[in-house]
Amino acid sequence: MAKCDIHSLPNMEEARNRTTKFDFEYENVIPSDDLKKYALGKTYFIRTYGCQANYRDEEIIAGLLEKTGYKKADDISNADFILLNTCAVRENAEQKVYGMIGELKAFKTKNKNVIIGLCGCMVQQKHIIEHVLKTYRHVDLIFGTHNIHQFLNLLEEVAIKKTKVVDVKSLPDAIHENLPSVRSSNFKAFVNIAYGCDKFCTYCIVPYTRGKERSRKMEDILKEVRELKNFGYKEVTLLGENVNSYGKDLKDGTTFAKLLDEVAKINIPRVRFLTSHPWDFTSDIIDVIAKHDNIMKYIHLPVQSGSDEILHLMGRRYTSKQYKELVDLIRNKIPGVAISTDIIVGFPNETYEQFLDTVKMVEYVKYESAFTFIYSPRNGTPAAKMVDNVTNKEKSQRFQELVKALEKTISPSSEKMVGNVYDVLVETVSEKDKTMMSGYTETNKLVHFKGDPSLIGEIVKVKINESHTYSLIGELVDER
Ligand code: 5AD
Ligand code: SF4
Repeated sequence: MAKCDIHSLPNMEEARNRTTKFDFEYENVIPSDDLKKYALGKTYFIRTYGCQANYRDEEIIAGLLEKTGYKKADDISNADFILLNTCAVRENAEQKVYGMIGELKAFKTKNKNVIIGLCGCMVQQKHIIEHVLKTYRHVDLIFGTHNIHQFLNLLEEVAIKKTKVVDVKSLPDAIHENLPSVRSSNFKAFVNIAYGCDKFCTYCIVPYTRGKERSRKMEDILKEVRELKNFGYKEVTLLGENVNSYGKDLKDGTTFAKLLDEVAKINIPRVRFLTSHPWDFTSDIIDVIAKHDNIMKYIHLPVQSGSDEILHLMGRRYTSKQYKELVDLIRNKIPGVAISTDIIVGFPNETYEQFLDTVKMVEYVKYESAFTFIYSPRNGTPAAKMVDNVTNKEKSQRFQELVKALEKTISPSSEKMVGNVYDVLVETVSEKDKTMMSGYTETNKLVHFKGDPSLIGEIVKVKINESHTYSLIGELVDER
């Protein structure tokens, strides 16, 4: 497959553009007869890296593939189409993908008819596409986050015309509704409420790879949630890079608080939302969370740093004092709420004192869980241009220190749960012990207990007997 058709390549400068208009397109996907004939008896395998937005994209891509007749492969080695759905948020995510692309060469050597594709945030960067085309000649198809709706046409070009195809746009043109999807779970679901991000935190690549912030119409979201409720789903998670600013771009008075209130009224047992930006977290959102029993009392509220100077350099738009005030308001209005966070250590030129401000923030908030990262420069972002005098060794040491500080606040929050009974949504058979089941409490604590796989997808009562930092051990409580 020597010929390569490059329809479009991304451009970081263009991706900064927030002024373009976008529409709502209501799709009716009908694959061509040629593609259906080609797909007959063929299988696909998708490997997704990164965040929930990518996992939701995987479900849509799988939906498109199954519409043509492709079936999910039971193993990557049997698949006729292999797609890596990539993440660009940190360098190690990209390294993992490169490692995997390398491994895929053997599949192509074994069977030259296998089609290998790349999509997701990583390929929204031109230098990555150029590197892939030069180094990994076995990749057949590259498409971006803004043209998933065109994926079947691109696949058809590769499959039938036997050309390589690259089509990655920098700007979104529309919100594409009604794309088919195959959900990975039949009891918990992700529902996109908004795409993209306009915050442009100085370290972050997402506003470039996912584009301008654009909200789905409230009626389309509510329709999707109602359908999930009718199918018996137990949990929905409303997804956006920054859910709190949902609706602003619709300019018709729609807000996240209103949406959340309406979603809660549909009465799915568990409603969650991800991710919140402290800057947009209004008190009416807090009131709606407090009002509804089925909105989980768990808020992921990335702080990133506890130092005012670093927060300013990061472009986070709040001070440590404002963040603490927000946490206090949330804790006052929502008793028993669990707060989790994201933290970056080793931002360019972060001093040890500034790092200690982050540790102080951890001690103040007493997070119930946290995701911690070492700063990773991302090509094209403002922070990547900053001269950095912090060594990798110092960064690693701070990272270890931060993890210890977090464990000191997370462990007591788990210990407090011992002896009490909690609702647990059962998700899987435990990996370590097949007689144990695993699930999550309302505040997102992982619980293992002896049980039967028939409980998967059910909300059961579990008494906690033992606590570890990152998980709890309990026993099923007989409700009869
Ligand atoms: N380096 C390290 N961590 C990052 N994040 C985003 N960009 C970077 C980066 N360049 C982290 C932030 C964000 C989470 C999803 O990833 O903490 O909240
Ligand atoms: Fe990235 Fe900041 Fe947007 Fe989150 S809010 S996606 S960290 S730019």
